[in-house]
Amino acid sequence: MAQKIIIDTDPGIDDAMAILAALHSPDLEVLGLTAVFGNAVVDTCAQNALRLVELEGNDHIPVAKGCAKPLVLPLDSVGTLVHGRDGFGNTNLPEPCGKLDPRHAAQFIIDTVLAHPHEVTLMPLGPLTNIALACILEPRIIPLVKEVVLMGGSAFALGNVSPVAEANIFHDPHAAEVVFAAPWKVTMIGLDVTMKIVMTPEYLSRLYAAGTPAVRFLEHIQPCYQDFHHAIHGMGGAIHTHDPAVTAYLLAPELFYCERMPVYVETAGHCFGKTIADKYHKIFPSLNLNQGIGGEAGEVLVERPSTTIALRADEAGVLNLLFDLLTKA
Ligand code: BDR
Ligand code: CA
Repeated sequence: MAQKIIIDTDPGIDDAMAILAALHSPDLEVLGLTAVFGNAVVDTCAQNALRLVELEGNDHIPVAKGCAKPLVLPLDSVGTLVHGRDGFGNTNLPEPCGKLDPRHAAQFIIDTVLAHPHEVTLMPLGPLTNIALACILEPRIIPLVKEVVLMGGSAFALGNVSPVAEANIFHDPHAAEVVFAAPWKVTMIGLDVTMKIVMTPEYLSRLYAAGTPAVRFLEHIQPCYQDFHHAIHGMGGAIHTHDPAVTAYLLAPELFYCERMPVYVETAGHCFGKTIADKYHKIFPSLNLNQGIGGEAGEVLVERPSTTIALRADEAGVLNLLFDLLTKA
């Protein structure tokens, strides 16, 4: 039976690739897309999510708009430098035809999880604000979610938006703290693996040669993302594989080597947005920093659960899997 998923997303060029790959898989049943601010403002991300479901006739899949700013802090910036002002590489696409689901994304997540207890995997590809808000509004969903498999953070790699922080966590570290502290199964696909899975210009050319609507769309929006990777990392047209790595993990977890560790998130100071993976499982409990949702500072409510963290990947295997999915007619 296909895995039921909700994709929480800030599309976003690599979000588009992850979503189109997921929509092409018979082993994934996309119950909805929920949009969050991140790579662009939330209105733009929601319109882009509609464009993605409409691209290949998947407009029966609901799209719900969610949070426009982080849980606690004001909105500081969005990722337009990386993904363009419109989130899709400054391509100024026509307006989508469809309408948004009337519910807030957090309510959509709550309703869908309650309707399918223990069956729904949440797939966050942006800041974790909608997911954290759903947990806060309706904590009953926490044990009813099958798994959360997110793109974000890094255990031992450096950051991509600051020297130490990954962009999705940086955009809302308080929300990330809620997600990593909650007693549910979380898998973190972060920069430890995603910056090592590299789509070269040759790979992208082979992909585009398939000529399907999905790859033609990606070819249209991708140059801005390639330019960013070249400007910052000198990658000569190659790109990192962030969000699509989550699609690959859901379909073939055996391509990833993971370890389980509690994760904490810095919410202030020079390390703002950094995920700290406690490899030795003992540093933070002894400092009495284990807080659950709603806990007072310093109060130990629950033992911080361990997150499954992807540390290495069969990079060629992931790229081959994504190639096969994306080039499906
Ligand atoms: C993450 O940040 C965004 O720019 C991408 O869409 C991805 O989700 C990578 O750090
Ligand atoms: Ca994203």
